[in-house]
Amino acid sequence: MTDTSVVSLRGVSKRYTESILSVDNIDLDIASGEFISLLGPSGCGKTTTLRLIAGFEGPTSGQIFIDGRDLTDAPPFGRPVNTVFQDYALFPHLNVSDNVGFGLSLAGVGGAEARTRIREMLDLVGLADKAKARVQDLSGGQQQRIAMARALVCRPRVLLLDEPLSALDAHLRQHMQVELKRLQSQLGTTFVMVTHDQTEALSISDRIAVMRNGRIEQVAGPAELYDQPATTFVAGFIGASNLLPGEVTGADSNLFRVKVGALQMMARSDQPLRTGDQVTISLRPEDLRLETGPISADPAKTQATVVQTLFHGRSLRIQVRVPGVDALTLDLPRDGNAQHNQTLRPGDGVYLSVAPGVARAFPTPPI
Ligand SMILES: Nc1ncnc2c1ncn2[C@@H]1O[C@H](COP(=O)(O)OP(=O)(O)OP(=O)(O)O)[C@@H](O)[C@H]1O
Ligand SMILES: [Mg+2]
Repeated sequence: MTDTSVVSLRGVSKRYTESILSVDNIDLDIASGEFISLLGPSGCGKTTTLRLIAGFEGPTSGQIFIDGRDLTDAPPFGRPVNTVFQDYALFPHLNVSDNVGFGLSLAGVGGAEARTRIREMLDLVGLADKAKARVQDLSGGQQQRIAMARALVCRPRVLLLDEPLSALDAHLRQHMQVELKRLQSQLGTTFVMVTHDQTEALSISDRIAVMRNGRIEQVAGPAELYDQPATTFVAGFIGASNLLPGEVTGADSNLFRVKVGALQMMARSDQPLRTGDQVTISLRPEDLRLETGPISADPAKTQATVVQTLFHGRSLRIQVRVPGVDALTLDLPRDGNAQHNQTLRPGDGVYLSVAPGVARAFPTPPI
């Protein structure tokens, strides 16, 4: 536990049934005031982790500290946290103002103070004019804001959000992502958000914990996760990546020479690798360089054949084939390379190269 962490999980596991370890020995420190997301595929244990922090579930083993106190066995109402549920769970028989004030009345805050705090919260989420409205008369986005206001009015140290925007359409979702971020930075409250949408996580989180099979694979800021994925799973899950089998053919200072079929590259790795090691290469589509001929003899450039081109708006996604590699995906920005966009056709010959250090090599475990 660090001095600034508001939530610390220590060796936390949760087993609902004999056969499923839903959360598997997690350690996580969440700093005060940070916006952290739990990201991962369906069933990886995100909601369970959130429910363990909230106190709706107890861990099978491990400890949970909040604000430096061991609250592993404390009930939900004994923790300085609040939760925004996926379906908002607003009270249909109460109007907007009474929904927001519900937690305050439970906490014994009433009268003028309650009215002031409710008004402040409604101002903050931009719905002061809806105080007396029925919740069923609100739009999805407005209901989402009310759920946020209701959870925040009690001034929790930590706000837990389980897929808070998943009920909204794509456009509104993007708008509410900006709103969430604004609210969080304005209030300075620690936000822990569950999502399986990597774009959402990358765009609004200070840090992201990528989960898989009940474990945390990597915790890092968005740029570090994207540029320095710790595992092939993270490389494949965050953004698009070509994951390719290769072999180490040498080393040069801190880079490794790797052969992927006919394609050569200088790859980075956090692991010690030796010549002859089998590796998995992770290569982002935007990191492959493509040139059309004629090319002077250059061993760093590999001949490839265009298989397919897909229009992606600002970029062109191109599938190519290289001897010894089934398929490679690369993205070509459309601005500076406009001539390619007009001319590239399936069957065309092109040249590929990879700048030193952009590919990452992971040891392939022996089968
Ligand atoms: N109450 C429960 N009883 C038994 N098993 C459960 C229970 N809740 C969750 N599980 C199991 O624990 C695992 C993790 O579930 P969890 O709901 O935490 O996943 P998730 O990452 O939130 O997935 P999703 O993205 O689909 O919401 C799953 O295998 C799930 O079936
Ligand atoms: Mg879930």
